[in-house]
Amino acid sequence: MKVSQAVAQRRSCRAFLDQPVDPDLVRDVLVKAARAASGGNVQPWRLYLLHGDRMADFKAQMATRSAKGLVDAPEYPVYPQPMKEPYRSQRFAVGETMYDRLDIPRDDKPARLKWFANNFQFFGAPVAAFLFVDRDMGAAQWSDLGGYLATVMLLLEEAGLGSCPQEAWCTQHKFVSKYVSAPAEEMLFAGLAIGQPDTEHPVNRFMSTRAEPDIWLQDA
Ligand SMILES: Cc1cc2nc3c(=O)[nH]c(=O)nc-3n(C[C@H](O)[C@H](O)[C@H](O)COP(=O)(O)O)c2cc1C
Repeated sequence: MKVSQAVAQRRSCRAFLDQPVDPDLVRDVLVKAARAASGGNVQPWRLYLLHGDRMADFKAQMATRSAKGLVDAPEYPVYPQPMKEPYRSQRFAVGETMYDRLDIPRDDKPARLKWFANNFQFFGAPVAAFLFVDRDMGAAQWSDLGGYLATVMLLLEEAGLGSCPQEAWCTQHKFVSKYVSAPAEEMLFAGLAIGQPDTEHPVNRFMSTRAEPDIWLQDA
């Protein structure tokens, strides 16, 4: 697969088939993706891979936590508050498109929350990774995490697998850190759900739009 094809066809997958995925294949991708560039070659990403019995146990414990409404206060703000334009509208648009495909209207908050809770079962994915960063690292190294994550997602695409990056896990960071035995100096950035996409599921049957380049690209 050409890189351009992987870039063009990748999308966040939010419904996975109940099919096993070889964890060694995913491990191989996570290792290959470490060819991603990072400032000073610092390679600030720290990964924890969940699969098999541990994944089943993690999901069961998360289901109990979700049922009890247990959440951790996020350690970092996922979005600026308030978020100005045009960013706010772009975020709003993708959310509305997704809920429209799922046939969940805006005023049906319980249904929206119920759907959102699927994040905490990795949308049914059989494998997942948690991406951490050392607390000493700053904005520049956090941006390196993004480059690494993008490289992982494109390599997964090439391997015929779908993925969904998940900042939602920041509301479960204490639980996740304890479960994966992350040292105290590491901070959770995001999860990544990995599996075979359910291509028939309506949530996977839309491609998010992008802002017109004249909004963000100018000749200097
Ligand atoms: C770092 C990061 C965190 C994200 N967190 C979530 C999340 O918690 N839940 C979710 O459903 N999507 C999440 N997304 C997916 C974005 O909503 C998605 O990338 C965006 O809407 C563009 O759609 P696309 O990935 O299908 O192109 C995240 C994406 C990134 C890059």
